Amino acid sequence: MQFSYQNPTLIEFGAGKIEKISTLIAQEKKVLFVYGGGSIKKNGVYEEVQKALKNHTWFEFSGIEANPTKETLDKAIAYGREKNIDYILAVGGGSVIDGCKYIANAFYYEGDGWDLLEGKYTPTKALEIGVVLTLAATGSESNTGAVITKKATKEKRFFHSPFSYPTFSILDPNVLKSLDDRQLANGVIDAFVHTCEQYITTKHGALAQDYYAEGILRGLFELANTYTKRDDLWYANLMWLANQALNGLIGLGVPQDWATHFIGHELSGLYGIDHARTLAIVQPNLLREFIDERGEKLVQMGENVFKMSTKNPNDVIDKIETMYKNLGVNLELSSYTQDTDINEKVTTLLTKHGFTHFGYNGSVNKEMVEKILNKSL
Ligand code: NZQ
Ligand code: ZN
Repeated sequence: MQFSYQNPTLIEFGAGKIEKISTLIAQEKKVLFVYGGGSIKKNGVYEEVQKALKNHTWFEFSGIEANPTKETLDKAIAYGREKNIDYILAVGGGSVIDGCKYIANAFYYEGDGWDLLEGKYTPTKALEIGVVLTLAATGSESNTGAVITKKATKEKRFFHSPFSYPTFSILDPNVLKSLDDRQLANGVIDAFVHTCEQYITTKHGALAQDYYAEGILRGLFELANTYTKRDDLWYANLMWLANQALNGLIGLGVPQDWATHFIGHELSGLYGIDHARTLAIVQPNLLREFIDERGEKLVQMGENVFKMSTKNPNDVIDKIETMYKNLGVNLELSSYTQDTDINEKVTTLLTKHGFTHFGYNGSVNKEMVEKILNKSL
């Protein structure tokens, strides 16, 4: 085990915490308040933020899409520069937060912000970011990742930057109550797959990481089983479990995979499918293709997460798949797109993005991706 770990984001968790923005952002800061398509105007969050900012100088930029695009974000940068802002407040789900990470990191760069995604620009300076989380799924509220789409080429890529850690994130579970069934199911699944990507690899014996991951998976499985009987604690648990799944902790010093995510990102970029749905479609079939190398860990998962006594990893994959189906997700790719060229388009983009041998041990290649996609049709 070898790692360095520091997560500097202050988490303010609980009902009524949005008002804390008034003291969490220094008085002299000029704030750009960034949000998405308007859900915060219907559930009261916009008013709460507005109230908390009453003593600040602030401007707003709305319209960040789900699967945020560079094209829209570049407009936010231009607007922020015009207003001379020096702080960015992201109010939304993963898309708004990721979008704000792009804005913050590209703000002082004269070139094309997309260079961040292509690894051609490494920022040395960025805007400070604060977050009000409205959708629990990605963990973006306290990690360094951001996933951005370029509309012009239908490419969806990610970048990491140490400047992307928000200074603070406000997690008020009541805010999640206006989410519809689809988005809540997406949240459970995304967090579940994040944990799997750091867990279903090989037996490594790092006990804290393994057993903590199993605890998160158990929690999410319990939420999936009580999905139709959601109470206050259900929402609070989802918010914290999704955060813990991808705040960096469980992946420390252990093999990580992310193959399901890399394939899923291409599917979202090409066809606009919800991020979590791409994962639910791809993951079970990916695991089936790699049953030998991942079997031992799957059996451990069956025992410790699902309380199964099976020694057959296929049973565990079936259990995962049933959980996704019970959450109302259609797992057939052909129900989202009629394109007959999916294999060719996905593998071409993966190659372009450098993913020719990926997964935790490099065994996911073009041929395997084609097999997985064929099984997922
Ligand atoms: O735009 P608004 O009007 O806010 O509506 C959003 C959006 O339509 C709505 N919503 C959000 N909070 C709501 C609400 N509706 C009602 N009540 C609320 N409280 O939900 C819709 C989806 O929002 P979005 O932010 O797109 O969802 P999510 O949080 O799942 O984020 C998905 C994005 O994050 C990326 C994904 O690829 C995708 O682009 N990811 C980011 C990661 C990271 N930064 O670490 C990791 C993930 O694996 C993922 O790739
Ligand atoms: Zn994800």
